[in-house]
Amino acid sequence: MKVAIDGPAASGKSTTAKIIADELKFIYIDSGAMYRACTLKWLEKTAASKSDADEKILAGIINDLKIEFTDNGKTIFVNGKNLSNEIRSSNVSQNVSYVASFEVVRNALVEKQREFALGNNVIMDGRDIGTVVFPDAEVKIFLNASAETRAQRRMQDLKNLGEEPDFDLLVAEIKERDRLDSQRKIAPLTKAKDAIEISTDDKTLNEVTQAIIPEIKKFIAE
Ligand code: CDP
Repeated sequence: MKVAIDGPAASGKSTTAKIIADELKFIYIDSGAMYRACTLKWLEKTAASKSDADEKILAGIINDLKIEFTDNGKTIFVNGKNLSNEIRSSNVSQNVSYVASFEVVRNALVEKQREFALGNNVIMDGRDIGTVVFPDAEVKIFLNASAETRAQRRMQDLKNLGEEPDFDLLVAEIKERDRLDSQRKIAPLTKAKDAIEISTDDKTLNEVTQAIIPEIKKFIAE
């Protein structure tokens, strides 16, 4: 079966999905990590200078891109190298919505996401999982929280990576990423009609996971 968890930046999707995957023995797939991996490669080639050549550059990157997950989705290998920390840098976050807006990138990564899920019980998080990647997912969750709560969480993640982020800048960056992700032409961030929306502002991680697990168990029991 398939579980889709969508929502805006830093809404807690991946932390929640990992816990549920471990508890229910599902395969966890972090679709955002795949867009981040592609962005890291684009940064290496272009030093963040956007141009009309990007479509071609990205097609080349996609052609050579090999993504593997280990440790049930917690570690990502990109072309054979563990880049789990590098893909979380601020530089990648600031450019990933741009890279993720290209059709050539989305088509290839969506295909890969469906391949990863084939024949497995899978929980995948992202922006378009319940709407585009798996419109037939049995359980769809849309996680949300205020930009300030989300920036607070992201602050901690970045500190753990050795960065010293500025809170106001983080709020602005998160709002800008939400804007770009929601307004893009292909597969924009939007709640699927049949998704359960959960606001995580005043909930603990445990409360969020405990709200989702029974929804999944309804299908496992069948
Ligand atoms: O963890 P965080 O919420 O910061 O984002 P992420 O899940 O790592 O996704 C990073 C970016 O990848 C998003 O801001 C989107 O631009 C893009 N993305 C996407 O377009 N579609 C997905 N299914 C997942 C991510």
